[in-house]
Amino acid sequence: ASTLREAGEKANPPILIGAAISGGGLGNNDYKRVAAAEHNYVTAENEMKWDALEPSAGNFSWGAADNIVNWARQNNMKVKGHTLVWHSQLPNWMSSMTGKANVEAAMRRHITQVMGHFKDRLDHWDVVNEAVQTDSDTGVGNPRMRPTVFYNQIGESYIDLAFQIAREQDPKAKLYYNDYSIDARNAKVDFVYNMIKGMVDRGVPIDGVGFQMHIGPPNNEATGADVAANLKRFTDLGLEVLISEMDINRCGGVVTAEEQLTYYHDIVAACFKEPKCTAITFWGINDGRSWLNSWSGALCNGQSSQSLLFNDQYGKKETYNRVMNALLGK
Ligand code: G3I
Repeated sequence: ASTLREAGEKANPPILIGAAISGGGLGNNDYKRVAAAEHNYVTAENEMKWDALEPSAGNFSWGAADNIVNWARQNNMKVKGHTLVWHSQLPNWMSSMTGKANVEAAMRRHITQVMGHFKDRLDHWDVVNEAVQTDSDTGVGNPRMRPTVFYNQIGESYIDLAFQIAREQDPKAKLYYNDYSIDARNAKVDFVYNMIKGMVDRGVPIDGVGFQMHIGPPNNEATGADVAANLKRFTDLGLEVLISEMDINRCGGVVTAEEQLTYYHDIVAACFKEPKCTAITFWGINDGRSWLNSWSGALCNGQSSQSLLFNDQYGKKETYNRVMNALLGK
């Protein structure tokens, strides 16, 4: 295989190779060329979030999202909708809403309208994102439901309800729960596991779980063996698993260059070896555009996070070679 995308297509069963794509990135020809050559799966980095799509109540704004979805389709790439119900990038009119019936109605309208708009073009959705929090971003300490407007007004059943509404809107779509710092072993992923198992036991229409795989500060560290064992307990529930937002941050010296290469190889290999691991998405294309560079918790202080597979000239890094090896079963 000469590209990651081709390696993913040849894997048995195939693995979708994804990237977070930004509208800004698509303004650069090198970015577009590498993104389309190497990937066959797209997540919009920001353009399909609630604040982007429904900036005021009931008024939808599709332009930026349509641009990404249409570009992806022109390049034979699938798209995963990201994300229907999330506490972040939620407009103020929504995060400040009160009353169970009001919040339920607003959530129903958002899911129905957004899925309806894209229905002919995409059938993978992050339905609920990051519903669980802990004392630390690394997933340690007192896991609990995040007190979002949805949880505060509806209760924990908002999660089941979101999936049920999504299923009504598109009976064939793949519906995912997505979260960070649940990639290996910690208190947070045990809590999420029990939450997901409860949903499966109740017959809630969930198809899979996305493990974001933001490794290094401000999130967790994860060895390949721990990731493999963790993926397995979720697939044992009958679910698909996805690596949904992978990057490995080198800022702050927490993860060394050598550790970064090992993690990239071993974590991708864990997905490669798990038949129900259906996709690996990297959270960006080139280091210079990574969200980590400007995120205070990432300890970058103006430095590059060096977190991805391509450098700023869009050349392949050693991280790319290690990922490719893992996708070839090496
Ligand atoms: O668009 C505005 C711009 O108008 C304004 O001038 C500028 C000043 O701050 O902000 C711009 O918005 C920023 C936006 O990215 C677009 O660049 C926001 O401040 C910034 O907070 C936002 O960050 C995004 C972050 O989600 C917000 O939660 C990152 O790009 C995006 O990579 C990140 O992605 C999330 C996933 O969706 C969910 N999992 C975690 C992951 C990493 O945090």
